[in-house]
Amino acid sequence: MIRLDKYLADMGCGTRQEVKKLIRQGRVAVDGEITKKPDVKIDVGEPETRPSVQSDGWEPMQRQTVCVDGKEVGYESYEYYMLYKPGGVISATEDKHAETVVDLIKDKKRKDLFPVGRLDKDTEGLLLITNDGALAHRLLSPKKHVDKCYYAKVSGKVTVEDMRAFLQGVNIGSEENPEVTMSAALEIIKSGNISEIRLTIQEGKFHQVKRMFHAVGKEVLYLKRERMGTLVLDETLKPGEYRCLTDEEIKNL
Ligand code: URA
Repeated sequence: MIRLDKYLADMGCGTRQEVKKLIRQGRVAVDGEITKKPDVKIDVGEPETRPSVQSDGWEPMQRQTVCVDGKEVGYESYEYYMLYKPGGVISATEDKHAETVVDLIKDKKRKDLFPVGRLDKDTEGLLLITNDGALAHRLLSPKKHVDKCYYAKVSGKVTVEDMRAFLQGVNIGSEENPEVTMSAALEIIKSGNISEIRLTIQEGKFHQVKRMFHAVGKEVLYLKRERMGTLVLDETLKPGEYRCLTDEEIKNL
């Protein structure tokens, strides 16, 4: 149960003050009846609005309807978007000067969305944008061993020795402060002056992929995340585009 003014503010109908005004102006109806009380409680049917392992998928259990100016405003506790992050955009929720990945989600209702893990400004590819903190923790914790799979173009010849080194773990810290990576699977797609590889890691240290290649004397020229756990970048999306996750994708995560 949540207050009507919070319900409307959560769904992007305005600030708490603005939605209170809407309510007092008699523009908001609950179950068909105009109400002028911002603190009236609305049954949003949580937690069943969130797909669970037990459920067969999305089961909206909201028991009440809320309309603003006659238009229904449904409540969503959680939102899940797959974004094809383009280069040049920062992985943050807000920034005074630069465009963020959350700014790219134009259809969002909730104001508490954040990116699950950070991709560098010049990195492209799969980014999950949600407000589901528990899911984000599960996906990001190295203890949960969730794969993060990257495609990269790397300067120099990537070798079988690099594959072995990554499997064993490389030091991406310094001699005094070693930071050894967990075992990672390196696949060489093309080896040459500029190599193409796929690397699967299960942690997300700062600039991890770039620092791993740096540790074996190479430089990442282009980096794209293709997969995170069971979530695969939808290749029908173009850089900068996004879509909602399907019920199946949410359930599988
Ligand atoms: N590793 C990096 O070096 N950069 C990223 O953006 C993601 C992983």
